[in-house]
Amino acid sequence: MIKEDKELVAKIKELKKKRNAIILAHNYQLPEVQDIADFRGDSLELSRMAAKTDAKVIVFCGVYFMAETASILSPDKLVIMPDISAGCPMANMMTAADLRKLKAEHPRAVAVGYVNTSAQVKAELDYCCTSTNAVAVINFLKNEKEIIFVPDKYLADYVSKKSGRKLITWHGFCPTHVKILPEDLKREKKFHPKAKVMVHPECLPSVVALADAVLSTSQMAKYARENPAKEFIVGTEAGLVYRLKQDNPDKEFYLASERAVCPNMKRTTLEKVFWSLEDLKEEVKVPENIRAKAYLAIERMLKIV
Ligand code: 13P
Ligand code: SF4
Repeated sequence: MIKEDKELVAKIKELKKKRNAIILAHNYQLPEVQDIADFRGDSLELSRMAAKTDAKVIVFCGVYFMAETASILSPDKLVIMPDISAGCPMANMMTAADLRKLKAEHPRAVAVGYVNTSAQVKAELDYCCTSTNAVAVINFLKNEKEIIFVPDKYLADYVSKKSGRKLITWHGFCPTHVKILPEDLKREKKFHPKAKVMVHPECLPSVVALADAVLSTSQMAKYARENPAKEFIVGTEAGLVYRLKQDNPDKEFYLASERAVCPNMKRTTLEKVFWSLEDLKEEVKVPENIRAKAYLAIERMLKIV
């Protein structure tokens, strides 16, 4: 690390104490941002952490819907994002009006939504879910006749196959994960025949079909730690490889596709983390009328799993 970065890290640590702040980072963040975080994890773990921390300020290094989820769970805390323009294109593919229309078309259906949604969409949901627990949430709803599952059509396809349930879906998808193609996995498997293939359920069904394991980002970290294999092909956003290598220095990780980079996850830099702590900006605050409804959907999920 260069001298300037070391100084910046020291300043962030000092300011963090002064502000009584905690830094949460998603597994896709830049390595230096992951390193400065008090906790890094997947969407579910970050939500849990945001709900239980005693800190007054949460600096959220991730994308907008994740910071909104923190605000929904911890309304008394100041939630700030170092770069508030870091959004999730998939979450932006469905508005609350879209969901209300879908619900009106299927009035008896229970509405389940991926955490990658806006707070306004969450406020219209009965249940929230993450990639870790989507199948468990759908299995929990075994007595429901009709289930809406939004916004990710590929996660819906995976969950539908795993649970054996037909789902009413939306046409959302992750522009980063669809860049991983079956040819990529086939090529990497040829080069590394002994490697285990793990992919995220946001990937194309043709990619999911070639995987040994379909997992959320932190589940991948666990799988890589616990599996006796020495080599892994990683079918998710590039940022996770840093954590995998750090956790398992004796194992090899091959990114399925160099194209799988989420530009929004890379917006947060050390400088922006420092400025956000200095100015206590930009705040992410979900209005109370939306928050109270969105909270119920998240709380129901947290109770199931
Ligand atoms: P995880 O919850 O698996 O970390 O996924 C979040 C995400 O945005 C995947 O693209
Ligand atoms: Fe959204 Fe995909 Fe980026 Fe995750 S990787 S934040 S789903 S665009």
